[in-house]
Amino acid sequence: MARPKPKLSLFDAVNISLGSIIGAGIFVILGAAAAAAGPALIVSVLIAAAVSLLTGLSAAELSRMYPRSGGVYIFAHEALSRFSGFLVGWIWLFSNIVAGATVAVGFGHYLTFFFPGLPSAVGAALMVAAVVMINLLGAKESSRLNNVLVLFKIAILLFFSGAAFLHFHGANFRPLMPFGFRGVWAGAATIFFAYAGFARVAIVADEIEDPRKNVPRATLMSILISTVIYILVAVSAVGGAGYLVLAKSGSPLADAISAMGLGFGARLVALGGLAAAGTVALASILGISRLAQVMARDGELPGFFAFLDRKTGAPRNAILLGGAATLLLAFSADLPHIAYISSFSLLLYYAAMNLSGLKVFKGRIRFVTAFGLLSCLVLMVSLPKLSWIVGAAVLAAGAVYYRFVAKHSKPA
Ligand code: ALA
Repeated sequence: MARPKPKLSLFDAVNISLGSIIGAGIFVILGAAAAAAGPALIVSVLIAAAVSLLTGLSAAELSRMYPRSGGVYIFAHEALSRFSGFLVGWIWLFSNIVAGATVAVGFGHYLTFFFPGLPSAVGAALMVAAVVMINLLGAKESSRLNNVLVLFKIAILLFFSGAAFLHFHGANFRPLMPFGFRGVWAGAATIFFAYAGFARVAIVADEIEDPRKNVPRATLMSILISTVIYILVAVSAVGGAGYLVLAKSGSPLADAISAMGLGFGARLVALGGLAAAGTVALASILGISRLAQVMARDGELPGFFAFLDRKTGAPRNAILLGGAATLLLAFSADLPHIAYISSFSLLLYYAAMNLSGLKVFKGRIRFVTAFGLLSCLVLMVSLPKLSWIVGAAVLAAGAVYYRFVAKHSKPA
């Protein structure tokens, strides 16, 4: 089956990862993390960044070794076994469908800022329909829109922190850790969702120019850029509005800026929230469809997922089905529970990524990878029991599908 021609530059590649990273996590889930950690939210943000960076270093090295579409699925497939690769791809697809539903609901929340009576499920559905249509136009077209939206959402977050720093009160940080270190750790597990997406660019490596160089660079650059932005936002939000305002809200940044008396700023921030949720959903459908296409090409999913539209080169069936699954989940979604479920499955495949690294890396990077693996496992322990139950059920369903279907099929 033909591979898509590489079309996307390093700038596009960084923006694909930033598009996937900065979304409902910082605009919505930050509130739940503040409720868990208190003013020490910043420490949670830093712990989550450290875990992401450790795994990001493994991801970067693996994408240098295996520079082709499929990301963590390919890494596990090549480094561990065909079965591990399948399971990792399966859990990746699940995690991203859930993350897509989470940001769709986040979009719905922020849309009520402009249309107060609109049920958030309707906003979520409109957004999913829009990103499916944009994805059908092809990678280059959706990447152009993604670049614009990424710059816009970053500008809004910088505007937010600038405004919040002007209203900064040191007293908002006292007491720093009302819920102790346990709370800070739970906050880190919660806000970890906000970093998800840094390895997205490896999923679409075939569409990036010079993937051996540009994919690892884009992975690391996107983690560093988002960490800096998240630190600025977390410190300024707590300093400007106090953690309680964030903790009680479904649109914490907009409410924080409202609490500072800047009504106009709240509408701008809400627009940023919409753009952010839009880019994450855009990148999530892009990733889901491309991974489903690669897995179908390898015979691990039904062949119709590998069908490429002749004009746009986009995997049409995979995009439509990925969108439908996201939509279905968005209707039954309950934030932040689905964010926890998404984070759990995310940590599961990050752990698998580190395990793949441990198998094939030589030299000092193995220490980084071992710490990466350990940190993923420790964060998983802090997530609620429901996410463990759902994660185990999805893995079991994948194992059954592999045993009875995928194992016996051949590459398309
Ligand atoms: N990191 C992505 C977000 O925060 C999933 O929306």
